[in-house]
This record gives sequence, structure tokens and C-alpha cells, in this order.
Amino acid sequence: MTDSPIFPPSFEWGCATAAFQIEGGALEGGKRPSIWDDFCAQPGRIKDASDGLVACDHYHRFREDVALMADLGFRHYRFSIAWTRVVREDGSANPEGLDFYRRLLDALHDKGITPNATLFHWDLPAQLQRVHGGWLHRDTAQRFADYAQIVARELGDVLPRVATLNEPWCSAFLGHDIGVFAPGVQDRPSSLLAAHHLMLAHGLGLQAWRSVRSDTQLGIVLNPELCDPASDAPQDVAAARLAELERNDVFLNPLFGREWPAEMIEQIGALADQRRPGDLAICAQPLDFIGLNYYTRSIAQAPQSAVEQRRGYRFVPPDPQRPDLTDIGWEIYPQGLERVTRNLLAQWPLPPIWITENGAADNTPVTDGGCDDRLRLDYLQSHLQQLSQMVASGLDIRGYYVWSLLDNFEWAHGYTQRFGVVHVDYTSQQRTPKASARWLQQLISTPQT
Ligand code: NOJ
Repeated sequence: MTDSPIFPPSFEWGCATAAFQIEGGALEGGKRPSIWDDFCAQPGRIKDASDGLVACDHYHRFREDVALMADLGFRHYRFSIAWTRVVREDGSANPEGLDFYRRLLDALHDKGITPNATLFHWDLPAQLQRVHGGWLHRDTAQRFADYAQIVARELGDVLPRVATLNEPWCSAFLGHDIGVFAPGVQDRPSSLLAAHHLMLAHGLGLQAWRSVRSDTQLGIVLNPELCDPASDAPQDVAAARLAELERNDVFLNPLFGREWPAEMIEQIGALADQRRPGDLAICAQPLDFIGLNYYTRSIAQAPQSAVEQRRGYRFVPPDPQRPDLTDIGWEIYPQGLERVTRNLLAQWPLPPIWITENGAADNTPVTDGGCDDRLRLDYLQSHLQQLSQMVASGLDIRGYYVWSLLDNFEWAHGYTQRFGVVHVDYTSQQRTPKASARWLQQLISTPQT
């Protein structure tokens, strides 16, 4: 057993999931399709041609999953609410969908587990995409605020902590520039407009929530980038900077009422006039917390192709032969957690921080009834060691949610990448805690000083 990092007694330990990745029950209880259902139905989009129709069948097995997280010692649970489950096409509340979340939340509270709900983890109602163009249409931001208000009214009494969006960079840029995520658009200016409307949705959503309740801790979850240049050449240094502007400043500046950097305004081009005066003030609502998701760092160099020129950078993926990669091919770089957090704190007045996701793809199979996921265990150990030093040095980081409780639908990778500390057999739906889950269980239960 590896050394255990030390955390203050008040430090919060949780696990995280997201609706589309685990729930299944896709056609039940009045649930409507999301853009990810449509995306999965398009040939070639998902590596194993899979979808979220059944996933981990959490919709039917949530009690078992809540009991499992309680057994493992987690006292906090981050999950997402599916917009398509709780709001009908005409904008009215869907009682059956809300009832599912009420039962889930009651089960959590019964076990003494504090929920942290995300309102948007990428599963936009398909109808908003088909009819309005989704995040390219300003009205989608208002629809999100209406949805937030419904959740505040119907479930706010059992939701102490809520984030508006999860990783809006992915919705905006993976969804509208690179095109590997739903809705699969490939157009640079559109991705920046989507980013703007997502942040507008965040601001309108917080206003709408606060118009109903004032006792919820409200925030947003971002995946800030730590991007190092491939060399000291000025072109590579400039490329790395542009990658960070896109990933960090485009989202953090509006949160604090600051205009985008000039480079990003230039890249949105003719669509700039769709950003209206007054939008920044809406985006800059007070934040009670910020969630940071951290997995790896990136390396950038000067752009080559025409598409890269429009972005201003190109990423250099790590050599797949390197030993320090997770199974999905991402570099294991625990120092990055501290570097990226300190970079953000130097530039923006962040509220208290929770690490809302951190984890590794480790596809070790179950053998003899157990799963010895050594890679994940080492990954978690090194990142938590880093985190304990950060907390000890005085950074205001209040908790950590491991990604993920369960193996699940890993977006464009389908079910080929396993991020769970609990193994899921997708045929039998059997759950098997892995070695990493046992290690976390021990860490959480050890009295801290
Ligand atoms: C971040 C996303 O929020 C989550 O949905 C995803 O599964 C993990 N990263 C791993 O890629």
C-alpha cells in the first residue's frame, strides 16, 4: 500500500458521474432525446458505435449505486440532472422525470451523502438543436434559465450545491470547432459564439435560480488548461498562450465581468455583433464556488494546417509508447494540478475551489472477482499527494470528487475507456469495486489531523 496523503478533517470526499454517461432509461418517464442521442445515431461518431440507451442502467439501479458509494465511504456525490428528463418540449416541468431525481436525492440524504448537482453536462435537448441551432442561438441561454428555475422550484429544497455548466469548453470547442462531440459542427467562429451563449446561459441560470431560492451554494465547473510550448521558439510559446486563452480566458473573463482577449474577438469575426452590450454583466453573477476538473496537461506548437491557423495552435499528442500515459493516452502529470490552479489564482479572484473531477482511464479487466487497477491507484495517489501539499500550503480547496464512481459511457470513446473506481460489467450490470476504490475507502476513513 502506498503512502497516504494527509488532509484536514473538514475536507470533503466525493465521487462524480453524469446523467448521459450512467443513467440509461433513455426512453422512460417522458424523457426526450438529447443531442448526444442524435450524435450516437450518426455512423462513425462513437468509437464502438455504442449509445447511452442503457449505459449503467443507473435509472433503475440508483439505490444499489447509492448504497455502494456509502459503503465506500463517500460523503459527497456529484451528478448531473438531464434537462431532457425534467422539462417537456413545451417548456413545462415533467413530474415523472423530477420524481426520479427526488427519489435519488432522498436515497442520498438517507445515507448521509451530500449531493452536488450539475444542470448541464452536455445533453442539450435535441429539439433545441434541430429547431434553433442549439448553442448558436441566443434563445437557448434563456431556455436554460427557464430549466434552472424549474429545478430550483421543484428540487431546490434537497439540493444544497448546484453548478450550472460542466466544462463549457467541451460543448463549445469539441462540439463546434473540432466537431468530435455533439452536435459535431466544425466552424471556428461558431465555437466562440457557442462559448458566449453558454456563459450567458450560466449567468441567466444563476439569476433564475436566485429568483427562487437564496440558500443554495451556486457555481460552475470548468476544465482549465495547462499548456506548455513544445519548444522555446517564440511561435510555439505564442501557440501555447493562444490555447490557454481559448480554454481559460474565454470562460473565466466573463465570470468576472472582463472582456475576452483581443485574439478571441478577432477569431469570432463577423459573429461578434451577436454579443450584446450588457451580456458581460449577466455572465458575472456572484459565485459561491468554482469546480475545477483536472486530468492532464497539453503541449502546443505553432499551427500548420489552415484549420490550425484559424485556431492559432496545434496540439502535439504524447508519443503513445511513453510509459507515463493512462490507457486513453493522456500524460500523467500530477504537478499540473498545482501549476494550473496557481495560474488561475494569479489571474482571477476565484471563490473557494472544489476539485470536481480527477481520475484516469485504466482498462484493467476483472479477474477472480477483483480488479487490480494499479495504474489508476498510482494516478490517484500521486494527484492526491500533490493536492494535500496544495491544501497544506493554504490554497482554499475544500474537497475532491473522483471521476468516476462507475465505468461509463466515455463520449466519443463509447465504452472502450473505463474511468470508474467501480467496474461495470455491461452485460450483467454487475458492479465490482476495484483496488483504487478500496484505497480511497481507507484514505477517507482514516482520521486526519
Ligand atoms: C470530463 C467530463 O466532465 C466527463 O464527462 C468525462 O467522462 C471525463 N472528463 C473523462 O474524459
